[in-house]
Amino acid sequence: MNIVILSKGPGNYSTRRLKEEALLRGHNVRVVNYAQCYMAIEKGRPVVFYKGKPLTDVDAVIPRIAQSNTKYGTAVVRQFEMQGVFTTASSIAINRVRDKLRSYQLLAKSDIGIPKTVFARETSDFEDVIEHAGGTPLIIKVARGTHGNGVVLAENKKAAQAVMQAFYVEGVNFLVQEFIKEAAGTDIRAFMVGGRVVASMKRQSLDDDFRSNLHQGGEGTPIKLTTEERKMAQKAAKEMGLPICGVDMMRADRGPLVLEVNASPGFNIERVTHSNVAGKVIEYIEHNAKGRRKKDKVGA
Ligand SMILES: Nc1ncnc2c1ncn2[C@@H]1O[C@H](COP(=O)(O)OP(=O)(O)O)[C@@H](O)[C@H]1O
Ligand SMILES: [Mg+2]
Repeated sequence: MNIVILSKGPGNYSTRRLKEEALLRGHNVRVVNYAQCYMAIEKGRPVVFYKGKPLTDVDAVIPRIAQSNTKYGTAVVRQFEMQGVFTTASSIAINRVRDKLRSYQLLAKSDIGIPKTVFARETSDFEDVIEHAGGTPLIIKVARGTHGNGVVLAENKKAAQAVMQAFYVEGVNFLVQEFIKEAAGTDIRAFMVGGRVVASMKRQSLDDDFRSNLHQGGEGTPIKLTTEERKMAQKAAKEMGLPICGVDMMRADRGPLVLEVNASPGFNIERVTHSNVAGKVIEYIEHNAKGRRKKDKVGA
């Protein structure tokens, strides 16, 4: 098959591993910087150009779209979708999970446990918002943050108000969330392929940071999920319409809670769990790419 990896980082571990596994399994593979693609929007003929030539005869794309390029990147993915090319993550699903408000609404609707969450923007009812989120200490997150940037722990009401006010003045959408103390500094990543867990790890911050993102200096160790966690991860992936994704969960006293679903999960989990996750992704493409493009059925 002809596989295109849409990535701005040809040298990063995830891209290299996907390419390596695709080659090992006998495919043609090309890493394409989607930010440098251009698209001719013409009647009946959706084409993606790259370096002066149209990208033709593509059987499958693997989008590895950076948060900061979501809009343009998903437009490129959509252009491939218009041609009927198989993608491991649909443009609509990538957009869906890049918005924390939208994701939490969908997760909650599907009865998936999430931390108590309040969305706000131009409110001056700070006291009321804080109360709805269960009081301080609490977490405030920007709606489109990633890698732990834009996630703040407010210890008391004064701090919470100040942070909310700052976001409000900047016109940033944010959400206010119950602080899961008992799990502070750790979370669980389940890597899903074909809607099933293929690897799982616990991430732990190395200092006293409450954020466990590897980008914030967190460290991963392999972990076995409970049945409840596994089922929850499967349900979250299904509800987001992402057969291949990373589901992040926290172990709260009242059970597992989903924190977010990641459409371009990092393959560094392979180094933690010593499993061949990239190979599973290519295998998934082999089984699904031919003539079976799935319709998005989430409806939001
Ligand atoms: N409600 C919460 N309670 C405790 N810790 C949290 C909470 N929300 C997030 N965290 C910590 O902060 C990290 C980043 O939050 P997350 O919602 O995943 O944002 P990002 O998209 O920036 O990764 C999480 O991995 C977790 O360790
Ligand atoms: Mg996260």
